[in-house]
Amino acid sequence: MEKKSYSIAVIPGDGTGPEVVREGMKALDAVAGKFGFSFDYHTYPYGGEYFKKTGETLPEGALEELRQYPAILLGAIGHPDVAPGILETGILLKLRFGLDQYVNLRPIKLYEGVETPLKDKGPEDIDFVVIRENTEGLYAGAGGFLKKGTPDEVAVQESINTRKGVERCVRYAFELTRKRNREKKLTLCGKTNVLIYAFDLWFRTFNEVAKEYPDVTTDYAHVDAICMWMVKNPETFDVIVTDNMFGDIITDLGAMIQGGMGIAAGGNINPEGTSMFEPIGGSAPKYAGKNVINPLAAISSAAMMLDYLGEKAAADTIESAVQSVIPRLKSLSAGKMGYTTQAVGDLVAEEILKS
Ligand code: IPM
Ligand code: MN
Repeated sequence: MEKKSYSIAVIPGDGTGPEVVREGMKALDAVAGKFGFSFDYHTYPYGGEYFKKTGETLPEGALEELRQYPAILLGAIGHPDVAPGILETGILLKLRFGLDQYVNLRPIKLYEGVETPLKDKGPEDIDFVVIRENTEGLYAGAGGFLKKGTPDEVAVQESINTRKGVERCVRYAFELTRKRNREKKLTLCGKTNVLIYAFDLWFRTFNEVAKEYPDVTTDYAHVDAICMWMVKNPETFDVIVTDNMFGDIITDLGAMIQGGMGIAAGGNINPEGTSMFEPIGGSAPKYAGKNVINPLAAISSAAMMLDYLGEKAAADTIESAVQSVIPRLKSLSAGKMGYTTQAVGDLVAEEILKS
């Protein structure tokens, strides 16, 4: 039988992106060899350097081309010479919106041997998933200026929430809660006491969809309270669903309680199209090219990609390898691991081959 091959787009991007993506691919190749499939990578140069050279964020036709792949591996986007906002909106958000990756999936999992800043909490307490809506809300770019630059200036930034956009995200969250099969509890994170239009729509949609999932327990909390509980009682969460802006904020809090940016992985999911997987730590330009950045987040996001591709056993193999490498590192922080970026990738690959 012919070996199955997955064609994957790779955007190494800026700063430490290329270094960590390389280790992600190393893990993917190791596990593919073991499970009898392979990857065919196609690399795209988009990022800060490309922008400086060409004046373009994404060239004409890039979305159409990327849409041909089942998945994209992304390193990081962000360049110290490029003004804030250009690369973020021109590349990252354009890909998320253009490829309709309507779910941002962020597991918050404390691995055994990782230090959390939360006192008296361990891996059994910190293991939940945040589903962040990824194409609407305050990120949609609706709004504008009036009388810009004058003392009477007005700036409006509107949160766009469509029934369709909210419902598909909420539905994904219910499905995932059922599939995770743990507490089977889904919490809606909102602000119904103040954002009386946007979260009214979210709340009604959530409760309507809930009727189709009688096996899932539902809960609601305001975003500020969620921040409190994530610190005080993270064990009360199984899956959280929320809008784009709140999801952005609470997942950085999540990344901190799971041990930091070196370990936090994410997926931008279009269940019917092209999904994109990225470590959420950013381009960390001061560590670029030094071989000191932690590649585990990128390796874990590669594992999330495998899960998305339907290679669950291979994804689990990478996750176990990551778990067994962690206790051997002195720290998860850049430059303090006791190993280089490449050496950490080698350790993971060895574990995969050994398993
Ligand atoms: C993230 C990042 C992005 C976001 C930025 C870089 C635009 O913070 O993926 O969480 O706000 O979504
Ligand atoms: Mn963010």
